[in-house]
Amino acid sequence: TVPVGILISGRGSNMQALVAGAGDAYRVVLVASDNPDAAGLAWAAEQGIPTLAHAGKRAEREAAFDAALRDAGVEVIALAGYMRILSPGFIARWRDRIVNIHPSLLPKYKGLDTHARALAAGDVEAGCSVHLVTEELDAGTVLGQARVPVLAGDTPETLAERVLAAEHSLYPAVLAEFVRR
Ligand code: GAR
Repeated sequence: TVPVGILISGRGSNMQALVAGAGDAYRVVLVASDNPDAAGLAWAAEQGIPTLAHAGKRAEREAAFDAALRDAGVEVIALAGYMRILSPGFIARWRDRIVNIHPSLLPKYKGLDTHARALAAGDVEAGCSVHLVTEELDAGTVLGQARVPVLAGDTPETLAERVLAAEHSLYPAVLAEFVRR
């Protein structure tokens, strides 16, 4: 099984889905966060998964993450609601070994507020994408997508909830396939 490290910033529901989906393909050996108060960190620690928080400046945080990820033997990094931009240097050191989940059907709606933008555009479907992380934001190769309908009366919150459920099944499946490549 391939050792995976997960970076989170908050709730960590995708991280939980990745932990639940671990098995023959991959195992989660470290959960790290830029936010010491991330709810997901406490959950991971309760499961007995090693955790790390670093609230400092980007260079120091990334150096700490890099060292801990290497110490843990991590081969693939999964971003799961990690809301910081990684430096080009960090991405280069982990080239083609960082994946991310993004709440839109890329290449549509890179960046933030994806659900409000999909609704404002009158889209009839929305969804999520798992993609390789490159220096260009949300622009790396798409590894998998899941689609959900936009329903009459949807708000960004109701649409986010529907997309999030799709994220939770998509991400573990795509990560398992990716680590077997
Ligand atoms: C998820 O919807 C994820 O796709 C999104 O943040 C949420 C995190 O929720 N990520 C991004 O917007 C990345 N730019 P979670 O912490 O419960 O997994």
